[in-house]
Amino acid sequence: MKKMVFLAGFLLFYYAGVHAVHSGVNQRRPLPFEYGRVVLDNASSTSGRAPVVFDHWLHRARFTCRLCHEDLEFAMQAGATGIRAADNEEGYYCGACHNGKQAFSSCMTTDAPASDTKCAPCHSGGRKVKKKHSFREFAHNLPRGRFGNGINWEEAEKAGKITLQDFIKGISAKNNFAFKNKDFKVGARFEGFPDILFSHRKHSVWNGCGGCHPEIFAVQKGATHFTMADIYKGKYCGVCHGKVAFPVIDCQRCHVKDVQQ
Ligand code: HEC
Ligand code: HEC
Ligand code: HEC
Ligand code: HEC
Ligand code: HEC
Ligand code: HEC
Repeated sequence: MKKMVFLAGFLLFYYAGVHAVHSGVNQRRPLPFEYGRVVLDNASSTSGRAPVVFDHWLHRARFTCRLCHEDLEFAMQAGATGIRAADNEEGYYCGACHNGKQAFSSCMTTDAPASDTKCAPCHSGGRKVKKKHSFREFAHNLPRGRFGNGINWEEAEKAGKITLQDFIKGISAKNNFAFKNKDFKVGARFEGFPDILFSHRKHSVWNGCGGCHPEIFAVQKGATHFTMADIYKGKYCGVCHGKVAFPVIDCQRCHVKDVQQ
């Protein structure tokens, strides 16, 4: 027990130091409902529409990361996909679901000017829009997490409180990947430092293979060299942890003893 307390203290101390060096400024930590929010404005403001606000919490409660980031080809970097109204209207990107069937429809620019009430749910940046889904109500019954959305997403899934869809008819391929990955450790290089937990299998179910290979990690154990400082900067594990998955301040969710099955 004593050892754990010491460790927690050390981790926080270390974090404070690294954080100060790497962030430069003191950034405000996002509130639970803002964590994982992406604001898209490549084309909206210049076309006279409010920027689009996309919330991960609402969508990741229904779909796997893989479905959107592989099958629907959304980039894992804000703004990088370059979604346009015309794509949505043709059934790509948001329009794959927001087509008036699976979910309310998306952009309609070709027909007679549509009423703003149809556009406002997405084109909501910088304005007051009444939303159908409330984060507070949603989060209320879910297992608590310490940081990020304040939700332990993994527990929520395990407890059957959320069920993730991994397939869209007509878009996803059948048997798109196997879940056969074995777990392995990504070892800490510091002598005596707690081992790092990383379930390859679980990550593959959430993210597919393309979520990590080959862009973030080489497909060879030990080939990718990175440090905690890189993770703080949003690289490697930090591509997701700090933006959508639980953030880096949650040291002990990664730095634990053994690999969970
Ligand atoms: C319903 C679709 C959808 C789901 C499900 C989804 N994402 Fe995303 N994600 C997006 C979109 C859209 C963007 C923004 C892309 C753009 O701006 O070009 C995005 C952006 C991101 C980014 C970049 C954020 C930033 O601020 O730069 C990360 C990281 C990310 N997603 C990870 C995940 C992870 C991890 C999951 C699963 C827990 C997930 N996403 C689930 C659609 C989705
Ligand atoms: C994989 C399917 C899927 C994709 C892709 C998707 N959504 Fe959704 N989205 C949904 C579903 C399902 C809902 C819940 C709809 C409902 O309850 O009416 C939803 C709800 C929303 C809401 C909530 C509105 C409210 O009033 O609470 C917004 C905003 C939204 N989506 C924006 C987007 C944007 C922007 C994109 C693209 C960047 C996108 N979605 C891509 C499935 C998707
Ligand atoms: C499901 C979410 C969603 C809804 C609903 C929606 N849009 Fe969009 N719209 C987007 C996204 C995402 C973009 C790209 C955002 C960006 O980077 O500027 C976009 C962009 C646009 C653009 C910018 C021009 C362009 O070529 O991309 C226009 C104009 C537009 N939408 C019109 C509309 C209109 C009109 C409505 C209502 C009938 C509407 N949208 C409803 C998601 C939505
Ligand atoms: C969340 C990120 C992530 C996802 C998703 C992921 N991997 Fe990996 N994978 C890793 C990491 C990290 C390593 C180790 C890389 C290193 O040590 O340089 C690795 C290593 C590997 C290796 C080499 C193992 C060895 O013993 O040499 C293979 C093969 C592999 N992954 C295949 C896959 C396949 C197939 C999928 C999809 C079913 C997948 N990975 C999904 C992160 C991921
Ligand atoms: C492509 C996105 C992505 C990358 C990259 C990624 N993770 Fe994750 N990770 C997730 C998601 C999604 C969860 C589910 C929990 C959540 O969202 O908070 C998760 C959960 C975890 C968990 C708890 C579940 C478990 O037992 O594995 C650990 C620990 C973890 N990640 C460690 C790591 C480490 C270490 C790395 C880098 C080697 C890494 N992750 C890279 C997306 C990612
Ligand atoms: C998402 C998972 C994850 C989280 C959260 C995380 N780490 Fe790490 N950490 C890693 C991985 C993976 C490595 C191994 C990098 C290597 O050495 O190959 C690492 C390595 C380290 C190291 C070894 C030296 C170095 O710089 O690489 C230290 C010290 C460390 N982490 C401290 C922390 C502290 C303190 C926190 C909390 C503020 C933290 N970590 C949170 C994944 C994580």
